[in-house]
Amino acid sequence: MANEDLFKKVISHAKEYGYVFASSEIYDGLSAVYDYAQNGVELKKNIREYWWRSMVFMHQNIVGIDASILMHPTTWKASGHVDAFNDPLIDNKDSKKRYRADVLIEDFCEKINKKAQKEIAKAKKRFGESFNEEEFKSTNPRVLGYIKQQKEIIERMASSLEAEDLADVKLLIEELGIADPLTGSKNWTDVKQFNLMFGTKLGASAESAMDLYLRPETAQGIFVNFLNVQKTGRMKIPFGIAQTGKAFRNEIVARQFIFRMREFEQMEMQFFVRPGEEMKWYEYWKETRLKWHHSLGLGEENYRFHDHEKMAHYANAATDIEFNFPFGFKELEGIHSRTDFDLKAHEEHSGKKLQFFDHETNKNYTPYVVETSIGLDRMFLAIFSNSLKTEELEDGSSRVVLKLPAILAPIKAAVLPLVKKDGLPDIAKKIIEDLQWDYNVTYDEKDAVGRRYRRQDAVGTPFCITVDHQTIEDETVTIRNRDTMEQERIKISEISKKLEDTISYKKWLK
Ligand code: GAP
Repeated sequence: MANEDLFKKVISHAKEYGYVFASSEIYDGLSAVYDYAQNGVELKKNIREYWWRSMVFMHQNIVGIDASILMHPTTWKASGHVDAFNDPLIDNKDSKKRYRADVLIEDFCEKINKKAQKEIAKAKKRFGESFNEEEFKSTNPRVLGYIKQQKEIIERMASSLEAEDLADVKLLIEELGIADPLTGSKNWTDVKQFNLMFGTKLGASAESAMDLYLRPETAQGIFVNFLNVQKTGRMKIPFGIAQTGKAFRNEIVARQFIFRMREFEQMEMQFFVRPGEEMKWYEYWKETRLKWHHSLGLGEENYRFHDHEKMAHYANAATDIEFNFPFGFKELEGIHSRTDFDLKAHEEHSGKKLQFFDHETNKNYTPYVVETSIGLDRMFLAIFSNSLKTEELEDGSSRVVLKLPAILAPIKAAVLPLVKKDGLPDIAKKIIEDLQWDYNVTYDEKDAVGRRYRRQDAVGTPFCITVDHQTIEDETVTIRNRDTMEQERIKISEISKKLEDTISYKKWLK
């Protein structure tokens, strides 16, 4: 299926099966704002939990907090967001469409990258088993040319943005012949900066109201609480503070469903380390976070690192973990070495010391910070789009199945009485009463059992437990596996153990 078709299918499946709805849909929705429906909210909660356990439960030196969305406005002056949280925008004069200039240039580079990949794929086919991809990439003149071209473009863009030379960013777009992706027009305005923060007011009267911002990242709630947590938790460096919560950005290019939203959720962790040790921890967190992604089994080939040429204003090293979304490899998670920028800036603006006394070295210092930051909604999209499959079956029919990692599936099992009589519904309901203490399970008695299986496949339920007439005789049921469609006959008393074997954090996170 073409990628564009797959993406359309992802969006319509998410709606049809109760995962994601457009916000305030009865009023025609609100651009780039979405609601999570009955199954979506469960999937989202399970992803959050999977992240939280891996961070907070599995690291004795990481604790969590839940800071508020509204913060003192000086927070955003100190963090640099008031002055530097901008996107470079460019308008097309003919289509009147607005774009991020850096995204137009990066998309152009991705096209060059695709050409290089095509050359590699062709050579792979030609040379077969004996093909050495690394050697080919470092010697083939065409591939080398594409790589060089991309590098030069990105470096020039990075240095122009760094120097705030927006005229050169426009010149670069013109020199590369980049056209409006929708209309092909090359009639561009100048590039200008646009601040992404949403403003709001605190207070009842217009005169006394205080200008506030909705937080554009959760990280600052961690920085301003650094000393509170360190002291009350008696934390020793290195230690981390984790938090999940809403963030808000007035995104300009917001056309990719829940990939880029104006209201979204982040899962962030700031790891406070000794100055000079930040690169060691940066490498540690790169590896640890990639392992976490791999643990979900979405295919290791679907992830790659993208090291930044242009750093955010606070970072001395930065990488993205990119995921192969239906529209190509894009950022899923950011890992930044943020130096002591934030703590020092908050010290300066608040006049309060935010330092740590290290008993091992007998020194006071401002810790350095390594941050991991992942968008929960983006992770949702990565999992959902990767899991949605259409399979051809042996009998010539096909099925749509959402092969979500079982640990994250909204509903873990559906209990189905074969018929609505002979006492089978009562037995099914008793099974539910037993399982619901540990798992989110559902009951379904409508339609033929084959249709019910298909319905649960499409929702992503890993197990269907069917109660039939044999159950009355020997207290056994069939349990059907969503992915293999195989059915096994087991005792009712064994169901719980069977689910536990597949759906345990220990099994998945280990
Ligand atoms: N505290 C660092 C920070 O906020 P970021 O790269 O701007 O860094 C981190 O954001 C992650 O948040 C991204 O990797 C992405 O997954 C998610 N994210 C950022 N903007 C988003 C948006 N508009 N919609 C959905 N997710 C977003």
